[in-house]
Amino acid sequence: MKTKRILVTSALPYANGPLHLGHIAGAYLPADIYVRYQRLIGSDIVYICGSDEHGVPITVTADKEGIAPQDVVDRFHGMNKSSFEDLGISFDNYSRTTLPIHHETAREFFTKLHNEGHLIVKESEQYFSESAQKFLPDRYVEGQCPHCQDEGARGDQCDNCGKWLEPGELLKPRSKMDGSVPVLKNTRHWYLPMGSFSKEWKEWFDSHEWPQNVRNYCLGWYKEGLGDRPITRDLNWGIDVPLEDANGKVLYVWFDAPIGYISSTKEWAQNKGQPEKWKEYWLDQETELVHFIGKDNIVFHAILFPMMLKEMGGYIRPTAIPANEYLTIEGRKISTSRNYAIWVKDYLQIFEPDPLRFTLAANAPETKDTDFSWKQLQSRNNDELADILGNFINRTMTFIHKYYDGIVPGKHALSDMDREMLAVLHDAPDTMAALFESFQVRKAVKAFMDICRSANKYFNDKAPWEARKNDLESCATTLTICVEIAQALATLMSPIVPFSSEKLLPMLGLTKPLDWNAIKSSDVKKGHKLGAPGILFPKIEDDVIQIEIEKLKAMAEPKIEFEAIADTIDFDQFKAVDLRTAKVIHAEKIKKANKLLRLEVDIAGEKRQIVAGIARSYKPEALIGKTILVVANLATVKIRGVESQGMVLALATGDNFTLLTPDGDMPSGIRVE
Ligand code: MF3
Ligand code: ZN
Repeated sequence: MKTKRILVTSALPYANGPLHLGHIAGAYLPADIYVRYQRLIGSDIVYICGSDEHGVPITVTADKEGIAPQDVVDRFHGMNKSSFEDLGISFDNYSRTTLPIHHETAREFFTKLHNEGHLIVKESEQYFSESAQKFLPDRYVEGQCPHCQDEGARGDQCDNCGKWLEPGELLKPRSKMDGSVPVLKNTRHWYLPMGSFSKEWKEWFDSHEWPQNVRNYCLGWYKEGLGDRPITRDLNWGIDVPLEDANGKVLYVWFDAPIGYISSTKEWAQNKGQPEKWKEYWLDQETELVHFIGKDNIVFHAILFPMMLKEMGGYIRPTAIPANEYLTIEGRKISTSRNYAIWVKDYLQIFEPDPLRFTLAANAPETKDTDFSWKQLQSRNNDELADILGNFINRTMTFIHKYYDGIVPGKHALSDMDREMLAVLHDAPDTMAALFESFQVRKAVKAFMDICRSANKYFNDKAPWEARKNDLESCATTLTICVEIAQALATLMSPIVPFSSEKLLPMLGLTKPLDWNAIKSSDVKKGHKLGAPGILFPKIEDDVIQIEIEKLKAMAEPKIEFEAIADTIDFDQFKAVDLRTAKVIHAEKIKKANKLLRLEVDIAGEKRQIVAGIARSYKPEALIGKTILVVANLATVKIRGVESQGMVLALATGDNFTLLTPDGDMPSGIRVE
């Protein structure tokens, strides 16, 4: 069979804020699972992503913080890249749309479309700020809605009644930047005449199968008429329009961002030392192009970008667009502006990545919105991963180590029960492959857990602890089959919970997963040596989960009780407290004290040991290398028998602690003044 060539993309997240669970559940985890599965079966696959670093919201953040847009995107690009890595989202390349290679590629698109006459130019009126001497993006203008009279309408839309507004319709318009009254001024923009491409587009669209949400949205837009869409903006953050008479204009972010998939593939090819290799993925009609996105991105991936690709000539268009619905958290809509979300980096401070991957995969918002709750994470981890999968592995390992010195005893004549179990196992690769291939992650997780359940039942029914006394051959056969199952599970689970698979493989005496199709004729030889057993899925305790639930509640209804401010002190008293930056060089839990961590910190070369009550809020590994603030001249005390030579500074909200850290890189030992 010819290996398939597949290019997979996940929507480029805006580098304008941290990633939360809603992002992961939709466009990233299902894609990563698909990609990991394809890699296992040997497909030629490249997985592309990167930060979307243009667009008005980024300039809004920059203005609010009084910094440059580049500083905003630098911060969030780095943060999001590491969140993805720590969660095991295995991009082959994670690029940025501010890189020269992207600017060049996007300009090349615009230039070619322009030169070949695929674009049109139109004059229109836009809000212009005389005080700032620039055009105002729609969301920089506020005023009263002409339809419902709501005072908080934006230049392009009223959130209150949902109506779209044209420039000039807003009553009492004012600039959000300085409150001044904007005027309407003529401006020229370049448009993609989507309406005139729509006949060809419709034929292409109809010749493919699409998920229902993609079909419905697209046909809805098509019916309304696609019209002309402006692809340039009057802004100073973005990719300059490559035309002489386009001063002060940039490409519309939704024109440039999808091209980011191409420039990221180019960057990947360059890094491999084969700069032309990107063409195999974008210009060869045999390649399958799969876009994983959230449903709010459908129009851009199923209509706008395919039209751009078509008009460019030679480029492939998507063959699949898995577009997810939304994730809610504890029954509420995620809201980044109201800070109601679970941020990936916060989750990873406390928990392992796999329980989250498993929970979000089992409950992926594929065809309808789904809800994430902390209790669900706990029960998926404790009742499924630990008690079913972990338990099966554990009992198999323990038995073989105890009675066979860790060496597989080998199979003898098979009973019906053995044969039935093996039949279930040998069907698994095809069953799960079909689900992975069709982007049905939820069902794949369920199919996987069903195999784990059958495996436990098999172990129970064959009762090797009895057979060991009266039927040694049956006992040996059972345990050998259990190792075959375990090895298969380590492989089948690796797309979903890759970190645990990595842990499990050496326990089973393997250095890498099995060949996917080799599972269909599983075979483990007598004499195969197992590795040391270990716990795959530690239980998540109630109190840890409770803290997270409380944190979310506090976000949902932020209520800070005012505490009376302490008695006045004089300056010398304050000066007597020696507050310093300190670098954490070591951190570990203190046995039998589940709130405490023992930290070793460096204060300008001086080593200190500090006991801190922050174990519920930070994993020790997450602290190492962090620069924090400490009281450096506090008398030494003993806490639970451990000496503490200082105190860390943290903000306490209920039982949760947030460490104070300096803004930017700082050497240790700097005094707080
Ligand atoms: N940044 C967009 C969002 O978060 C997604 C961009 S996808 C791309 O909604 F195709 F434009 F890259
Ligand atoms: Zn309105």
